[in-house]
Amino acid sequence: MLRAHGLTRYYGGVTALSEVDISLAPGEVHAVVGENGAGKSTLVKILSGVLRPDAGSVSSSGRGVALVAQELTVFPDLTVAENLFPLDPPRRGPLVSRRRMALLAAPVLAELGLDVPLGVRAGSLSLADQQLLEIGRALLREPSVLILDEPTSALPADAVERLMGVLRRLVARGVAVLYVSHFLEEVLRIASRVTVLRDGRAVLAGVDAESVDLDAVVTAMLGDRVVAPPIRRQFSHEGPPALVVGDLFSVAPGEIVGLAGLQGAGHLEVLAALSGRARRPGTPRSPRAAVRAGVAFVPSDRKRYGLMLDQPVWRNTSAAAWLGAGRGGWWQHRRAHVSSARGLINRLRIRGGPYDLVSTLSGGNQQKVVFAKWLEADPRVLVLDDPTRGVDVGARAEMHAVIDSLAAAGKPVVLASTDLAELCELCDRVLVFQRGRVVARLTRSELSEQALSVAMNAGFAR
Ligand SMILES: Nc1ncnc2c1ncn2[C@@H]1O[C@H](COP(=O)(O)OP(=O)(O)OP(=O)(O)O)[C@@H](O)[C@H]1O
Ligand SMILES: [Mg+2]
Repeated sequence: MLRAHGLTRYYGGVTALSEVDISLAPGEVHAVVGENGAGKSTLVKILSGVLRPDAGSVSSSGRGVALVAQELTVFPDLTVAENLFPLDPPRRGPLVSRRRMALLAAPVLAELGLDVPLGVRAGSLSLADQQLLEIGRALLREPSVLILDEPTSALPADAVERLMGVLRRLVARGVAVLYVSHFLEEVLRIASRVTVLRDGRAVLAGVDAESVDLDAVVTAMLGDRVVAPPIRRQFSHEGPPALVVGDLFSVAPGEIVGLAGLQGAGHLEVLAALSGRARRPGTPRSPRAAVRAGVAFVPSDRKRYGLMLDQPVWRNTSAAAWLGAGRGGWWQHRRAHVSSARGLINRLRIRGGPYDLVSTLSGGNQQKVVFAKWLEADPRVLVLDDPTRGVDVGARAEMHAVIDSLAAAGKPVVLASTDLAELCELCDRVLVFQRGRVVARLTRSELSEQALSVAMNAGFAR
């Protein structure tokens, strides 16, 4: 369906992609994995015609290539229906037909489990629903080649399962699927072939998925870089709590408390209140007040809350520090900020320099910058919402080690994540929400993905 040869792409002095060959056969899922900045998005943009290669060629025999891009391209001010048919809305005569739109969209949205009115503004949807909307738009084009660039980074487990079902049905109909993901188990489960990119090169090129296991893939991705081992912390509930959240719960110094729930369960409202984005008595009155009070907030929607895209990395990493400390201005400390930006870049393996504009970093590296800015600010409280969204396995372990060490230094941490494995790895305790209330509490020894999933769905721990 699609064959590419010798694809090479430069950005200034950076070689984002170097002589990559890849092919897609009908009825297969081809997984593409690699570290943040390895060149995955660059590759899929070239394959889908969004970007031109500096060398190499792409030929396709299919009817159409649809791309679900890593960075959402949903138009927030248009309705769900308008987003689903952005170019050629179904018409009756010269008029756009809402009825035909609804007729065409209903089965696709049902298959994805996206249950929202077609007339609402897309910008009012949750990040997960926007991601599903993006996928729905691609499916409605009935492509013969479907390319997905981290389609599940904001999706809860049940939505991921539904998407897998959709992909299996597409593949059975002969559609070719290229799937980019950092959830290696997930992608290896569904893929028939695997390509691993490292520093822009294909170090494994379309090998049979049966012939490689998870370890082999991780080794190919990271080379000889080591993955940070988890840290074991000690903390005590004796003495005053470090953080009290109304009458819902409190957090001991050095404790990591996880919040879990299905969409709309209310756990994310707690994060919004703690970070000053929802006005609740006893919580910061604004995001700025929250920063001044020493609350670090790492959002999942980095584009909206986390970054100044048109600014260099060092301005972003220092932003929280000077806002919070309220001393002078960034210009007085420029050299110090640039040098600590370098330190953070090394520590989190951010691919880019202090003077690079954040908009030129890969998705996962942008997420690392959001996280990095809080390390420099030395916050009192950490509030994290999917902090490792779109981050590769190596950097994910590194970020987990950092979160652990901040807790070990006595800071209270509140963590929500769509990635249940992440909650199990990091948390001392997880509170499960339903309808705005805590319905189950799981301690470290009771924690497993299975137990969490049961509690989130059933509303109690078994
Ligand atoms: N517009 C741009 N300008 C300059 N450099 C860029 C631009 N887009 C990408 N790059 C660089 O090209 C390299 C590859 O980026 P790419 O987005 O393809 O990585 P990726 O594998 O998709 O990473 P991630 O897992 O973080 O999404 C990175 O080093 C990135 O900084
Ligand atoms: Mg990418």
